Amino acid sequence: MNRIPILIVDDDFQMRNALREAITSLGYRADLSDNGPSALEKIRQSSYSMVITDMKMPGMDGIEFIRQIRRIAGNIPVLVITGYGTVENAVLAMKSGATDYLMKPFSFEVLKRSIESLIERTDSDKEIITENPELKKILSIAEELARSDITVLITGESGTGKELLARYIYRRSKRAQGPFVAVNCAAIPENLLESEMFGYEKGAFTGAVQGKKGKFELAHEGIILLDEIGEMPLSLQAKLLRVLQERIIERIGGTRPISVDVRVIATTNRDLLKEVKTGRFREDLYYRLNVFPIKLPPLRERPEDIPLLSISFLERFSREAGKDIKGFSNEALNILKSRQWKGNVRELENVIQRAVFLCKSDIITKEDLMFEVEERVQKGKIRDIERELILKTLEETKGNKSLAAKILGVSVRTIRNKLAQYRQEFPEGKIFPVDGL
Ligand SMILES: Nc1ncnc2c1ncn2[C@@H]1O[C@H](COP(=O)(O)OP(=O)(O)OP(=O)(O)O)[C@@H](O)[C@H]1O
Ligand SMILES: [Mg+2]
Repeated sequence: MNRIPILIVDDDFQMRNALREAITSLGYRADLSDNGPSALEKIRQSSYSMVITDMKMPGMDGIEFIRQIRRIAGNIPVLVITGYGTVENAVLAMKSGATDYLMKPFSFEVLKRSIESLIERTDSDKEIITENPELKKILSIAEELARSDITVLITGESGTGKELLARYIYRRSKRAQGPFVAVNCAAIPENLLESEMFGYEKGAFTGAVQGKKGKFELAHEGIILLDEIGEMPLSLQAKLLRVLQERIIERIGGTRPISVDVRVIATTNRDLLKEVKTGRFREDLYYRLNVFPIKLPPLRERPEDIPLLSISFLERFSREAGKDIKGFSNEALNILKSRQWKGNVRELENVIQRAVFLCKSDIITKEDLMFEVEERVQKGKIRDIERELILKTLEETKGNKSLAAKILGVSVRTIRNKLAQYRQEFPEGKIFPVDGL
């Protein structure tokens, strides 16, 4: 079984082994440590899905141990085991950053429930998975940065985890209790972006029967993520610059300035300096944003993360699909490792999601791997493969077009258009594996 292991820390040999047995019987992998310092070293070196720890240990007590974990591994779930009748200890542990606690003695059922709920909780609050030294260094810098109010500019290819890193900083910042508001500058049409960002007053334009707060106002005392800032039109760049300089916004159609206390994180997959040179991005805004630049490395430059990420996605998607898939065939894993991953982690995530969907055994094989259509375009086989992909997916979804569209990441209309096209090419309808299409 190649799931991301749970780290068990307990100085009591019997307890350690009992926990290991329980955890492996639940289908998780376990790694063991008998003291705090060596466990911290392990956490620094590799990735764990959770830590289960005793409170009383020689060398380093549980409270200090939990504090250190928080410093190194952010919000990894920590389940603390406390002795009978030591409620104060449990409270103290929670205050130092434990995620949950169990009081001895506990049944296997109780342990099982705790572990499962903790693992589920992390999924909604996604961790950054990596064993790459460069990315690990970025994470530790990000942790330091989180404590400040410095503007951060995160760059990197599409799908490298820019938004994930922005949230990572947010969760560790003193603004974590405040809002996290994301504005996707690429997805919002130019004329709407301004009102999205700054809001409008009642009567500002036809239809504005009520005033509306913009994202900057909504992010007050929190963090605003200006996603894909390189796509922001020049006219708005000027307005944004003013906000960043004065921390004051004005709603559209408004006359009173509103001061906002907002920290800014921006992301882009463009080379902003190049955009500055060609006049598409304001130089003064660039320097306002580029106070602390972070460049995320593409997946192909950190191949050691591919198996790790694949396993983590496999776990998540097979649980969601109610399947019990144990891992990858060597052949499949080698294919995953040797790819270029132009779409980086997002592309890998999609490939694994499809693989889980298609997988009919308890191992992902080469046949379950369907790669993004774009890359095959270059190989000149686009049409055949695209058709195969669409039809195979429709077969799997029993003809459900919207589900197929979701899995393939295209619109339902695209699917309909393609089907119409195939129907014209093959009027006998023989190519359709699914009835009623
Ligand atoms: N190191 C990582 N560990 C786990 N998941 C990751 C990691 N990096 C990225 N992901 C996942 O990959 C997907 C893409 O990440 P994200 O949206 O942060 O990338 P991005 O750089 O903002 O991409 P884009 O430029 O396309 O907007 C998300 O589902 C994210 O959870
Ligand atoms: Mg993004």
